[in-house]
Amino acid sequence: MTVPPVHPELADAVDRLRSGGLVAFPTETVYGLGADAFSDAAVEAVFRLKGRPNRNPLIVHAADIAMARTAVSSWPDEAQALAERFWPGPLTLVVPKADIVPPRVTAGASTVAVRCPDHPLTAALLHAFGRPLVGPSANPSGRVSPTAADHVRLYFAPRQVLVLDGGACRAGIESTVVSLADPTFPVVLRPGVVSAAAIAATLGRPVAAIDTHGATHGPLAGPGMLPSHYAPGTVARMVSSEELAVALRKASPRVAALAIGACEDIAVGHVVIPMASDAPTYARNLYAALMRADAVGADRILIERPPAGDADPMWEAVLDRLSRATAPKASSA
Ligand code: TXA
Ligand code: MG
Repeated sequence: MTVPPVHPELADAVDRLRSGGLVAFPTETVYGLGADAFSDAAVEAVFRLKGRPNRNPLIVHAADIAMARTAVSSWPDEAQALAERFWPGPLTLVVPKADIVPPRVTAGASTVAVRCPDHPLTAALLHAFGRPLVGPSANPSGRVSPTAADHVRLYFAPRQVLVLDGGACRAGIESTVVSLADPTFPVVLRPGVVSAAAIAATLGRPVAAIDTHGATHGPLAGPGMLPSHYAPGTVARMVSSEELAVALRKASPRVAALAIGACEDIAVGHVVIPMASDAPTYARNLYAALMRADAVGADRILIERPPAGDADPMWEAVLDRLSRATAPKASSA
């Protein structure tokens, strides 16, 4: 019999979680900041460390459907169908919450977001811990989400967070969030890798999408959907290919560019980060590119607008993240 290799830090990670501490874990989307989802104090520590607004609820991560169901008070047939089709994977389901979940997790809402991440190390962590973990992206609130263990280490010290290194994240942008809370129709609250069309095809009925960009005040309709989110520290702007070429021909201001077309030859003195022209590869590299661009000390970051007209629905999720990265910063975020 072969025994699967045990990650050297898994036991320490479980100990940390049991004592109310925080563990960053890898997923297929981005790294999560894990804590015992049923411990109010541990969840409070997550909000404090991230500087996260209290009204922004957390996703509860589970090893499987059975564990997810410990956090919910009802499990609609459509949740079962979507979980069977997409879990483990980048789809988060919003359903009625169980009493055991502290109100802080859901920002006082009667619903809870649950997902089963697709990463063997995190599956092992969840199984060993034996109960669900909250897992917001492992970044200070409003900053770029981490897609590698080193990104998390840039944000937080080892005494604050134990980081489990599971390599670079495959998908690179956060999960699709779909609410099943209103039985009359499912609503996509955050676009992601799993498209609304794929969800609708599984359910055999249409799925609505909400415009998440206006939700800055009051209880959040798509909680957490603050306009300025996923943002680098340097001011970032989305520009056309022509505008980018013009900016790169000038010597100042000094820019860091995320460019799809080749423009290294005209970019003397600037930093140009080449981006892929297909949506999955673009998404996988986006946050690392933003973090690199942020680190070079440029006056501003210019992001070449991805080509319109490409049919891949994943561009919608990419454009959602780009528009947040380039939105004026809200004072509360
Ligand atoms: O891919 C992901 O989902 C990553 C990885 C680590 O799993 N996690 C993540 O968490 O992106 P976070 O905290 O950055 O985003 C959680 C979002 C909230 O901003 C909110 O939009 C939605 O999930 N959410 C959580 N609970 C909700 C609820 N009860 N109702 C509606 N939306 C909710
Ligand atoms: Mg986040």
